[in-house]
Amino acid sequence: MSRSEESHDSRIAMRWGVFSAVSIMMALLVSCGAEERSDVATDGSESATEAAEPETQAAALGLDRSALRERAKAIFGTLPAEAANPNNAITPAKVELGRVLYYEPRLSKNHDVSCNTCHLLDRHGVDGKPTSTGHREQVGGRNAPTVYNAALHIAQFWDGRAADVEEQAKGPVLNPIEMAMPSEAAAVAVLESIPGYAPLFEAAFPGAEKPISYDNMANAIGAFERKLLTPSPFDAFLSGDDDALSDEQLAGLDRFISVGCIACHQGPAIGGGLYQKLGVIKPYPTEDPGRKEITGDEADLRVFKVPSLRNIAKTGPYLHDGSIQDLDQMVRVMAEYQLGIPIEDSQVKAIIAFLGSLTGEVDQELIAMPELPPSGPNTPAPDPS
Ligand code: HEC
Ligand code: HEC
Repeated sequence: MSRSEESHDSRIAMRWGVFSAVSIMMALLVSCGAEERSDVATDGSESATEAAEPETQAAALGLDRSALRERAKAIFGTLPAEAANPNNAITPAKVELGRVLYYEPRLSKNHDVSCNTCHLLDRHGVDGKPTSTGHREQVGGRNAPTVYNAALHIAQFWDGRAADVEEQAKGPVLNPIEMAMPSEAAAVAVLESIPGYAPLFEAAFPGAEKPISYDNMANAIGAFERKLLTPSPFDAFLSGDDDALSDEQLAGLDRFISVGCIACHQGPAIGGGLYQKLGVIKPYPTEDPGRKEITGDEADLRVFKVPSLRNIAKTGPYLHDGSIQDLDQMVRVMAEYQLGIPIEDSQVKAIIAFLGSLTGEVDQELIAMPELPPSGPNTPAPDPS
């Protein structure tokens, strides 16, 4: 994607707010972490307490599921039913139009790429590739994150360069290596040329002087994405179901909290709420400048939005460049580069089990592939150039 977009002062301010929040969080962790980290062997060897297997740890924990639940609720909050936006009310007509547009390949130059090409709704919102393929099989430089739960994030893209899902949706249609439309006007002309869109836009934007517009296209797609939230067994546990998580998953949740993953992966999306350096403790090898490209600030070199971990077991490969294939390796990378702690195999295993409890349910009716309205006489032909 072209990363030449804006760097709003307000977002820089937000970033600083966020950084101080993280420092506070880190300080809290350090101050209260001593006894919790007793099973983290400092020399990489098995420590005495580590001898306990996750199941046994959880059996001990099992006595206190409600304490763990209260702790987790304070850290993660509650997944809402939809991600509201005061500037873009979510209405059934808008969501319905957004769903159709999400699957609309005629919004691409060669009529062969839609949002669903790279964010497959029936594959947890990703394409499973390290980096995606768009117009003329061109390959981008970043991994396609999932669209599920993305509307909850502080901002969109790995570097946060779009404020929200509505702003984000305007990007890919015009991106030369994604959908490659020459201009906003060209995209609007396509929508106007397809007779079936007029009534859909009129229903979605009642009373609008010109219902079919580039902004309204993005607003409809945004409203649709705001419904793409995926409640999971973890949420069932948070809302009181003691049997929603296995003992090992509970032990993993406990580890996820106590080793410090929550310093960054917190809130209802289990991430998505702040920006952090990849390689905060130990420099991580990547060419990608991250947010520095947006803000121009040296301090933002290799700073990325902390990703949401919802559905993480299904959305590999991982990181902004899709360079990490499996979760086991991913958790170890995080422990080494983000936390600077040795991590035991049994802890990794338990954390992965917990991460599995974040795989959520999708409303199949909401994401069903729609019947696209037929082209009209003026609909431009596909352009493979
Ligand atoms: C050719 C593949 C491709 C197509 C087509 C595509 N995307 Fe993406 N999408 C990506 C990639 C790659 C990124 C990450 C780019 C970055 O961060 O710089 C991304 C990022 C996003 C994000 C940000 C998620 C997050 O966690 O920050 C959202 C939301 C999204 N796309 C929605 C859409 C929508 C809606 C469409 C259709 C209008 C679309 N995408 C079309 C590849 C694609
Ligand atoms: C200091 C902040 C921080 C801490 C602590 C942290 N992470 Fe991360 N995590 C990040 C950032 C930033 C990324 C994205 C980096 C990138 O893609 O370049 C990330 C990425 C990930 C990913 C890949 C997500 C994806 O969609 O590709 C997983 C999985 C993950 N972290 C799990 C964990 C676990 C488990 C822990 C605790 C052992 C942890 N993280 C601790 C900041 C952190």
